[in-house]
Amino acid sequence: MVRRPLIAGNWKMNGLKADAVALAKGVAGRCLPQPPSVDLLVCPPATLIDPVAQALAGSPVAVGGQDCHTQSSGAHTGDIAAAMLRDLGASHVILGHSERRTDHGETDALVREKAVAAHQAGLVAIICIGETEAERDAGQALAVVGKQFEGSLPPGATAENTVIAYEPVWAIGTGRTPTLAEVAEVHGAIRALAGKQLGAAAQRLRILYGGSMKPSNARELLALADVDGGLIGGASLKVEDFMAIALSSNG
Ligand code: PGA
Repeated sequence: MVRRPLIAGNWKMNGLKADAVALAKGVAGRCLPQPPSVDLLVCPPATLIDPVAQALAGSPVAVGGQDCHTQSSGAHTGDIAAAMLRDLGASHVILGHSERRTDHGETDALVREKAVAAHQAGLVAIICIGETEAERDAGQALAVVGKQFEGSLPPGATAENTVIAYEPVWAIGTGRTPTLAEVAEVHGAIRALAGKQLGAAAQRLRILYGGSMKPSNARELLALADVDGGLIGGASLKVEDFMAIALSSNG
């Protein structure tokens, strides 16, 4: 089963309009004349989705949000509904990133509700899961990730409307990554669990690796059998690094 890799940039809370437009145009420009044979996505802060979507118009690069609310509208000051992201041109939304789980106390149940909202708005939900360092050291990585996967995957999830991102919390922004064997083990376990919920379609589900992916380690990570792309933070803020990662994929 061939899964087309997805290389997704998580810009987090970085950039003002001019930086974001320049970065987006840089990525789009690198898709000419021939885009890499992977799906490309950038997820800027919500305020920048509109100018980034405009800068990427006509390019193969998609735009996504970094979070959405569970409700489609209403009295939720400061929050953003999935349909609002969609309205600006977003096709994807990252959900349950470890920074949101930590900074905003997001639980698996909340992430699952958000994923339902994302699907209702026609967005692909990129659901993030991953263990802490203490959990890995205690031999709990597979158990924790499995529990998060089962708790966060919404009813109605398909291989087309959902992407999973395995992001060990201790690897995010630290320059450290698990061994290839550790990544392979977790991705294989996620695919096996996905099989219970999605049946044969689990073979089409894309499972991304995230956490200090960079040009120097992307090739070996992306070559693993169950790694179907990357969710890239720091390195996605540099056109050269992001595109080098995209070109490392054998998609
Ligand atoms: P990083 O972030 O690539 O900077 O480690 C990844 C992420 O948080 O999605």
